[in-house]
Amino acid sequence: MTDVFAAFEAAKGFMPVDEGMALHRAAVDAAGGSGLPVLEVGTYCGRSTILLADAARRAGTVVVTVDHHRGSEEQQPGWEYHDPALVDPETGLIDTVPHFRRTLHAAGLEEHVVAVVGRSPQVAALWTQPFSLVFIDGGHTDEHAVADYEGWAPRVAPGGVLAIHDVFPDPADGGQAPYRIYRRALKSGGFVEESVTRSLRVLRCVTGGTVR
Ligand SMILES: C[S@@+](CC[C@H](N)C(=O)[O-])C[C@H]1O[C@@H](n2cnc3c(N)ncnc32)[C@H](O)[C@@H]1O
Repeated sequence: MTDVFAAFEAAKGFMPVDEGMALHRAAVDAAGGSGLPVLEVGTYCGRSTILLADAARRAGTVVVTVDHHRGSEEQQPGWEYHDPALVDPETGLIDTVPHFRRTLHAAGLEEHVVAVVGRSPQVAALWTQPFSLVFIDGGHTDEHAVADYEGWAPRVAPGGVLAIHDVFPDPADGGQAPYRIYRRALKSGGFVEESVTRSLRVLRCVTGGTVR
């Protein structure tokens, strides 16, 4: 885990160390238990992907990570999380693909990752296979968070895990869209809370296979 952890710490991205360790533990447990692949929405530059890929490697499976790689609303020029180093000078648009690929190469985990460049709802509509763990960390507007939840939560295998990042019960701490899908997951009766690590929520699927 030392090299993987060093690569994670060196990677550009938004996953704090303590939340990353909790996500890694959940993924090792979920993928190790069922052998099913892992799904991530919100690749960005691959910081959290490293942790999920390591868990997938240990379980003999892969992580499928989905992103259009053009950045979320808050990452666009003029917004709080904009990084000018991610802008492609030719198109003038954000392009995180090259950074993501370097991250994975540095971590030595390329062969354990299937990267899908596309919009989450379009990819989800094509997908029927179950996952051991679904990690939602894509767009943080209600439109995107709801689409991610509705598209991917039904793909969590019975006994598997739904993990959601940036869940802030207090609006003073951050946007409410991830919090609202977290509440919806609990209210559905399909998931129970397993752990809370600051803004990371890990939920266990107690039913499976239904649209919630
Ligand atoms: C908060 S960042 C992900 C951070 C990453 N998990 C990490 O650990 O650093 C959100 C990502 O979601 C992507 N995204 C936003 N809306 C999306 C959508 N509808 N479909 C696919 N990707 C989307 C953005 O391009 C951005 O890279």
